[in-house]
Amino acid sequence: MTDPKRLKISHQTGSYEVLVGKNLLAQIGEYLRVIRATGPVGIITNNTVNELYGGVIRDHLRSVGLLTRTILIPDGEAYKTLASAEQVISALIAQGMERSGTILTLGGGVVTDLGGFVASVLFRGVKLVHIPTTLLSMVDAAVGGKTGVNHSSGKNLVGSFYQPDLVLMDIDTLKSLEDRDRVSGFAEMFKMGVIRDTAYLDFLMSNLLTLIEGSADEILITAIARSCALKAEVVEVDEKEADLRRILNFGHTLGHAIETTLGYGVIRHGEAVILGMYGAGWLSSQIGTLQQEDWNKLAAMLLKIPLDVPIESLDADAIEASTRKDKKVANSQLNFVLLNRLGEPQMQSGIPVLMIKLAVDALKKAWGRAV
Ligand SMILES: NC(=O)c1ccc[n+]([C@@H]2O[C@H](COP(=O)([O-])OP(=O)(O)OC[C@H]3O[C@@H](n4cnc5c(N)ncnc54)[C@H](O)[C@@H]3O)[C@@H](O)[C@H]2O)c1
Repeated sequence: MTDPKRLKISHQTGSYEVLVGKNLLAQIGEYLRVIRATGPVGIITNNTVNELYGGVIRDHLRSVGLLTRTILIPDGEAYKTLASAEQVISALIAQGMERSGTILTLGGGVVTDLGGFVASVLFRGVKLVHIPTTLLSMVDAAVGGKTGVNHSSGKNLVGSFYQPDLVLMDIDTLKSLEDRDRVSGFAEMFKMGVIRDTAYLDFLMSNLLTLIEGSADEILITAIARSCALKAEVVEVDEKEADLRRILNFGHTLGHAIETTLGYGVIRHGEAVILGMYGAGWLSSQIGTLQQEDWNKLAAMLLKIPLDVPIESLDADAIEASTRKDKKVANSQLNFVLLNRLGEPQMQSGIPVLMIKLAVDALKKAWGRAV
C-alpha cells in the first residue's frame, strides 16, 4: 500500500493535514489518534453514504476503543438547512455528545458543509474531521474552512469559517459515485486550473475521460492533491474571503443563479459552475479583458466536458432576476470574477446585471450548436 499524499494547510490559529490516498477509511482510528481526537465520535452522514462506508469506519473506530454515534440527515441539497442542523445538534446532545468529542463528517459537500457548521456551533466548537466522499467535496467543500447551510433567500447564506483538524480523502469511495457527480467535481478542479495554473489545466484536459471515469488511481490522486494545493495557496493568504479568496468564486455567481433557478436536484453544483464559467469567460471577452485566443481555448475546453443538463430549459430572465439577490450585487451592478487571461482572474465591479441575460443566451447558443 502506497502512502497517501499529504498537504499541510495553515490557518490563523494553526494548521491541519489533508491526506489523499487509498484504503484510508479502514485505518481511520490511527489517523484520529494522531490528532488526539477523543470520543464520542459523532458521525454525520446520510443514508446513501452510511450504507456504503459507515460500517468500515465504525468498525475501525470501535477496534481502537472510540465510541461512535451516527446521525443521519436526509440526502440532498434541500436538507442543507438550519432546521436540519438543529435536528443534528439535538440528536448529538441526546446521544451524549461531549465538548471533548469529535465530529466526523462522511459524505459529499452537503454533509461537510452542514456537519462543519454543526461542529462550529455545538458547545462553541468541537474537533472536526472531514471525510469527503464526492470528488467535488474533496477538491472544494472540505478544504478551506467554509461551512454553511442554505436559507430560503439563497444558498449558503448562514454559516461560519471553521477549520477542520484533519481531512481524509479516500479515492476508493469515488468508485460508487454517479457519472454526473464526477463531472461536477471535475468542474471545480478545472476552475482551479483556469484561475491559478494553466499547466494543471492542460493536465486535466489531457486526462479528461480518465478523471471522469476514475479509471487511473495515480492520476486521480495527483489531480485531487494539486487542486487542493492550489486552493490552499489562496485560502492561506485570505482565510475569511476579504480579497484574494474571492477569485474562487469564478463561475459561481452565474452558477449559483442557475442552480437556484433550475431547482436543487436538477443540476449538480459543479455542472452549474461549468455553465457559469462559460458565462464569466464570455463576459470577460465582451468587456475586452480576455483576448479572443484565450476565450476560444476556454470555450472549447468547457464544451468538451460531458454535460447531461437540460440547458435548453434555462430561463435567462429568471436567472438574471436571481442574480439580483446575490450577496455581490449593489445598485443593480455586480462584482464579478472575470479573466485577464487563462491563469489570471480579476475582480471586476460594475457589471450591469442585464448582461447576465446575454451571457445565458450565449451559453445556450454554444451548447445548442455543440449537440
Ligand atoms: N464549503 C465550501 O467551500 C463549498 C465548496 C463547494 C461546494 N460546496 C457545497 O457542496 C455541496 C455540493 O456537494 P456535492 O456535489 O458533493 O453534493 P452532495 O453532497 O449532494 O452529494 C451528491 C450525491 O452523491 C451522494 N454521494 C456522496 N458520496 C457518495 C459516494 N462515495 N458514492 C455514491 N454516492 C455518494 C450523496 O448522497 C448525494 O446524493 C453544495 O451544497 C455546495 O454549496 C461547499
